[in-house]
Amino acid sequence: MRRINGRVLRAVSAIVAIALLPACGSSFNTGTITSDSVKIGLLIPQSGVYAPLGTDISRGFHLYLDAHGGQLGHRRVALVTADEGAGPDSGVPAGQKLIQQSQVAVAVGVVNSATALGLIQPYNEAKVPLIIANAGANALTGAKRSAYVWRTSFANGDVGASMGAYVASRVDFGQVYLIAPDYAAGHEQIGGFREAFEAAGGKVAGADYPPFGTTSNYQPYLARIQRSGARAVFCFFSGAEAVSFVKQYTEFGLAPTIPLYATGYLTEGSVLRGEGAAALGIQTGLHYSTELDTATNHAFVAAYVARYHAPPTVFSVAAYDAAQVLDRAMAGARTGAQIVAGLGRLGDIDSPRGTWHFSDTHNPVQRYYLREVRDQGGGLVNAILRTLSS
Ligand code: BEZ
Repeated sequence: MRRINGRVLRAVSAIVAIALLPACGSSFNTGTITSDSVKIGLLIPQSGVYAPLGTDISRGFHLYLDAHGGQLGHRRVALVTADEGAGPDSGVPAGQKLIQQSQVAVAVGVVNSATALGLIQPYNEAKVPLIIANAGANALTGAKRSAYVWRTSFANGDVGASMGAYVASRVDFGQVYLIAPDYAAGHEQIGGFREAFEAAGGKVAGADYPPFGTTSNYQPYLARIQRSGARAVFCFFSGAEAVSFVKQYTEFGLAPTIPLYATGYLTEGSVLRGEGAAALGIQTGLHYSTELDTATNHAFVAAYVARYHAPPTVFSVAAYDAAQVLDRAMAGARTGAQIVAGLGRLGDIDSPRGTWHFSDTHNPVQRYYLREVRDQGGGLVNAILRTLSS
């Protein structure tokens, strides 16, 4: 009998392994979870226009984790951080790598809506829970809702809609210009606003969607706004794009005559410090402000500022809450299926943003607040004027 050498044996094993792969198909759980440890992936932008949001998400998650001895669900957490980058070209492969190579039991994070949409299928197939701590794509908890994708942040349309009736009343039912980056979140935030605004009697003067991630000069758009005769502007911008837009809006001379309204990402956190005085007076709708007067928020802000020497943001709150829902849902769970079953049983969540709970489609049911940028004792804050919805 001819002897089979090692090389031939290894080649045959590789072929057999590849042939077996489709049979394993969609039903195996790759996640690493034992009785005393759990591997968790943190997928956040560490580069690109949304890098500041990634920093805030990481800080919020670590704040909760460190306050709980590095454990969630009574297990020591091994955290693997991956760079989402600016959009799906980098974010989707990075999210897939967390399942396939790092073998995480759960992943948390994801800022960009398009990236999150691209991750629904891989996470559901692998039966690995994905807790979205920002990306607001409506379909994630709407038309494309699924067993393993949960969200602690918001749906884009809801945030936009929160400001519709208010802005309609402020412009005396006159015309408003709409502007946002040309990708899922921009269209959905503006879409939610427009529906509520028009239902309340508002009229749209025009709309622009500048390319996402590559636009740094907003002058041509500002000139169109000026010529449109609009009485106000409603926009969605976040991260580095928010700073550019707000500064150029003031430099162009529109601020005194055409008030700027937005969803709260426009003036959140380090972005607000970058905008400085140009942001004063801007009114926005959002489900969080550092200025919320509750015991839970006071304790959260104090702990955050003590640790990071910067105020928290809506992004850090969503990540803090992702950690706290996992802490509760993972207790006693050994599989992804058991973790998502635990998420479904949570009920009320006591958060710095106020109490919220998951809807049947895994989205937060929460309040929205009308905020205004004010100079309070030398620092800019998003002061709360009133509740927009509950
Ligand atoms: C999004 O892509 O869904 C998004 C990004 C930044 C802020 C808000 C939403």
